[in-house]
Amino acid sequence: MIPDDKKEEVRDAADIVDVVSDYVKLKRTGSGFAGLCPFHNEKTPSFHVTPGMSIYKCFGCGAGGDVFNFVMEMEGIGFTESIRTLAERYNIILPAENKPEYDPSHTDKEGIYHALRFAGIYFHRTLMEHEEAKTARDYLAKRGYTKETIRKFGLGYTLKSGDSLKGMAEKEALKEEYLHKAGLLKSDANGVRSYDTFRGRLMFPIFNPSKKVIAYGGRILKDSKKAPKYINSPQTEVYNKSEVLYGIHAAKNEIRKEKEAILVEGYTDVITMHQAGVRNVIATSGTALTSLQMRILSRYADTLLMIYDSDSAGQAAMTRGIDIALTEGLGIRLLQLPEGDDPDSFVKQFGKEGFLGYKKENSRDFLSFLIQGADQAGEWDDPVTKPKVVGRLLESIACIPDVMSRETFVQKLAKESKIGDRKLFERLDITMTKKKESDKRAKERAGRFESQHNQSEEAGTFNGKQQNQKARREPVAKKKMPPHEKEIVRLLLVHQENMVKYIGSLINEEQFENELLRNFFKDIMQRFESGQKINVETYAAMEHPYPELLGEIVMERFSLSERGNEKRDKALGQDSDPYRTARGAIKLLQLHFLDNLVTKYSEEYEQAEGDDKIRLNKLIQKISLNRSKISVLTPNKAYPEAEAEIIKRKKELESKQQGLE
Ligand code: UTP
Ligand code: MN
Repeated sequence: MIPDDKKEEVRDAADIVDVVSDYVKLKRTGSGFAGLCPFHNEKTPSFHVTPGMSIYKCFGCGAGGDVFNFVMEMEGIGFTESIRTLAERYNIILPAENKPEYDPSHTDKEGIYHALRFAGIYFHRTLMEHEEAKTARDYLAKRGYTKETIRKFGLGYTLKSGDSLKGMAEKEALKEEYLHKAGLLKSDANGVRSYDTFRGRLMFPIFNPSKKVIAYGGRILKDSKKAPKYINSPQTEVYNKSEVLYGIHAAKNEIRKEKEAILVEGYTDVITMHQAGVRNVIATSGTALTSLQMRILSRYADTLLMIYDSDSAGQAAMTRGIDIALTEGLGIRLLQLPEGDDPDSFVKQFGKEGFLGYKKENSRDFLSFLIQGADQAGEWDDPVTKPKVVGRLLESIACIPDVMSRETFVQKLAKESKIGDRKLFERLDITMTKKKESDKRAKERAGRFESQHNQSEEAGTFNGKQQNQKARREPVAKKKMPPHEKEIVRLLLVHQENMVKYIGSLINEEQFENELLRNFFKDIMQRFESGQKINVETYAAMEHPYPELLGEIVMERFSLSERGNEKRDKALGQDSDPYRTARGAIKLLQLHFLDNLVTKYSEEYEQAEGDDKIRLNKLIQKISLNRSKISVLTPNKAYPEAEAEIIKRKKELESKQQGLE
């Protein structure tokens, strides 16, 4: 447990405006700051932060609390972990927890974060102290990295042996399960033995904005043809490549100040530029920029400056990047470095001032940049190709959500191309209409794919080929019946009226994933509402698929035999605390349901545009938040007591008191 005085120290050190700003774009108001609430969907800001009192409050949805509450809700973690997160962020040293991963209230995510943090400290210490790491230290010295830089970016080294992290973790009683889930251990082909994912590599931890390690990139020290230069952590519960920006923890304040983020390609570009004093720099992990990353950036930046090594990145990829940034409402500028240079080498040669001077002279807005490119390719002065180029430029302009900004660029294009702006506006209209249609079609295609996909999955619940005629005779497939859904139906059948009332007040049929179980649930609810009796016998006597379903749901634990009734009643009634069991199952049901919703809307989001995109984004945020709210609570905290439980407790209390009298 973390002592109270440490908690208070963290609370004092934490700047709530700083913390909230990682998620909300705040604007100064009279006594504090306001922004769009991250906890519900709104268009005008009703979310307020009062730094003097270190609290936040939304007057729209009522969410509110202190800095710990905010971190808990946003990161989906518990109280202790929120203290730890903030302590790290503000460099407060907490007493080490003994075996913290055995705390049963820990969520999976916390175990993973813990494993990643543990590994980071171990890798860093290895780099600084181990004999084998001397080559790595020499390498870093040769690249000119200072001790401070190495510490700031948490660089480390992994030994070649293949089981050093594993061994260290064993010694410290860290659960292997979490090292696996964190992507730090891998199983061999037979799944028998596991070994360290990263071996003999220079390690670059990847931090999230609140300075938690979420993944690693590992660089080989000697370039080799056989092994890849970098290997990166796999996707995990806490690491989603498509939303990560390397260096964001070190860059965010500077980005906010400059209102501009500089995007480079590599880890080392970020670090070198940072050390040289250009600190608003981030990188993707070697992938093309995604709209998620752009959205995260837009919390801090108004403009994105993309630097491209002159020798890499095809025109097509670049144009796509531009369109994505524009779609997310980011201003975008581009900078091409002299041939043969990357940001790392350029800044090393010319320093911060040299870089800033070059940037001032050579950075271009996207329109000028693309026109320049077309000009260099000889396409701009050619009357045959020019209209095509203009058409392509209009497609980029069509991505910009803000109408005034669109107009500005059309006027600029008119000037540069010497085509009348009336003509260009007409063409832009057509382009935008076409774009809307093609986006809509893409959305429909995605939808169709999804429903086909679902149908074939549903078909899997019966394993007959001529489903229509034969379904009745086919056994109910056991797969794809989530245990918690079975459990809910079982509880209803066993505990009947009171349980039906209770569960019915907390969930609805839509939340079931499995169609058969959903229908079962629906049928129970309908019978209950029309005053019919609900019990196992009723359903045992019904048509397919109920008897078999019953087998799946209830009879697993024992079989229906001649003398089965007695046995069965005993087995059925043996839940020692059925409402508690119900709450556990309900929690799982809701978490799965919300996960599926997020997946569904995220797919829609990719196809959406304009206001739809904004709406879906907010919806996704809201659902994710809801999910994390539920996930941090124990089932007993997340849901109210059942009436039957309250009555039972009262009765017990009364009889106790009577006993005393
Ligand atoms: P670079 O090859 O430019 O590496 O790849 P770098 O970061 O500049 O490293 P140095 O300066 O040569 O030491 C750019 C980025 O692409 C990803 C990494 O994120 C890297 O930082 N990458 C590259 C990989 O993920 N895997 C690879 O094999 C290579
Ligand atoms: Mn490089």
